[in-house]
Amino acid sequence: MTAKSLVLGQTLEFLSNPFHVPVEEATRVRPKGAVLVEGGLIAAVDEADTLRPLYPDAAVVDYGDALICAGFVDAHVHYPQTGIIASWGKRLIDWLNSYTFPEEMRFHDAAYAAEIARLYFDLTLSHGVTTMVSYCTIHPTSVDAFFAEAQRRGQRVVAGKTCMDRNAPEGLRDTAQSAYDDSKSLIGKWHGVDRISYAITPRFSPTSTPDQLRALGDLWSEHPDCLMQTHLSEQTDEIEWVKGLFPEARDYLDTYEAHGLLGEKGLYGHAIHLEDREKDRLKEVGAGLIHCPTSNTFIGSGLFDMAGLMAQGQRVGLATDTGGGSSFSMLRTMAAAYEVAHLRHNSLHAAHLMWLGTAGSAAALHMEQQIGNLKPGLEADLVVIDLGSTPEIAQRRDRAQDIWEAVFPTIMMGDDRAIQDVWINGKPALSAIAKPA
Ligand code: GUN
Ligand code: ZN
Repeated sequence: MTAKSLVLGQTLEFLSNPFHVPVEEATRVRPKGAVLVEGGLIAAVDEADTLRPLYPDAAVVDYGDALICAGFVDAHVHYPQTGIIASWGKRLIDWLNSYTFPEEMRFHDAAYAAEIARLYFDLTLSHGVTTMVSYCTIHPTSVDAFFAEAQRRGQRVVAGKTCMDRNAPEGLRDTAQSAYDDSKSLIGKWHGVDRISYAITPRFSPTSTPDQLRALGDLWSEHPDCLMQTHLSEQTDEIEWVKGLFPEARDYLDTYEAHGLLGEKGLYGHAIHLEDREKDRLKEVGAGLIHCPTSNTFIGSGLFDMAGLMAQGQRVGLATDTGGGSSFSMLRTMAAAYEVAHLRHNSLHAAHLMWLGTAGSAAALHMEQQIGNLKPGLEADLVVIDLGSTPEIAQRRDRAQDIWEAVFPTIMMGDDRAIQDVWINGKPALSAIAKPA
């Protein structure tokens, strides 16, 4: 018999997408709830008073009135940019050339890649992120480092070797053939091992020749169960650059579509300045659009049209975009999503924000059967959120009339102090490490 744990607190379940049905119908909050965890999976979610007598042998972990929900899912990050997060003053192309590319060159060194992977997973754990979809660098060593660290921690992750064969400096370019060969061999080595999935990763159209895009499109058709991730329409001058590089393309998305890189399991980061044809095609194929709000404001990219894209029925996930994004925190990222929506005269409810950071991102990755919600059968990745983590948040929480009024101040003002514990693969992971006094 495997050991059972009963995790007690205020539990948050999503019954459906709160962008499509009213929040009261889409969510269930149990003020005295319980999550039964067994063998790395969620075995039951119910009232504590119901589950306690049914499982008298379960080890009880009582988090009081802290909020228990699915671990955060960060749908677009660049772990190799951990060391250059919050670099000052550049827009996208200059930012890549000045900060990103020099740092990414260092990842040919396996020891450096391992050091940053460890740091990245430590930082994200403290912010309650249990799954992330990461770009690595062009070096297969950077992929090995990321997956090895995730494997050691038992985390469900997605990542891939970034492919670039032009418009990148010497030392940071591969070729169409080597991108295909290296990606293929990494898929063979890692895809489906433990909780690891591979994403075929052309960085974006400006740094790939048509030959490389085609080679990666072919690879994707040979491995259709892999995700594919790239960037789309982040800044207007980037779009102009793409038009010059691909004069025959109908639009930016067409540079992917024409090479076999548009599909349901495609993740398109940023997707801010989309034309109608692009939106229609993305919707038609059911692709994932990944909103990176702290990055979009930090690098000055623009305002993602959450309301318009959701009304169209697009599949949308939420992401920090470390290190173009300015924070590892999904709470801060939700706050930025709220602010960006407000600048477009739309108000996101706290339930929308929590959904985007958990179930929404999981659905964008086609992993809603594994992660992103409190539901029997899903993997037991949990975040335990202290809704009164600082005096200013606590005094706001104390005036709340309902759970959402209690959650919203933590979304807007919370940081890693709000993350009371994190469960990964059915085990406490944050409280298990000694925190400095
Ligand atoms: N577009 C291509 N590469 C990148 C990157 O590393 N970060 C961001 N924000 N946009 C990109
Ligand atoms: Zn990115």
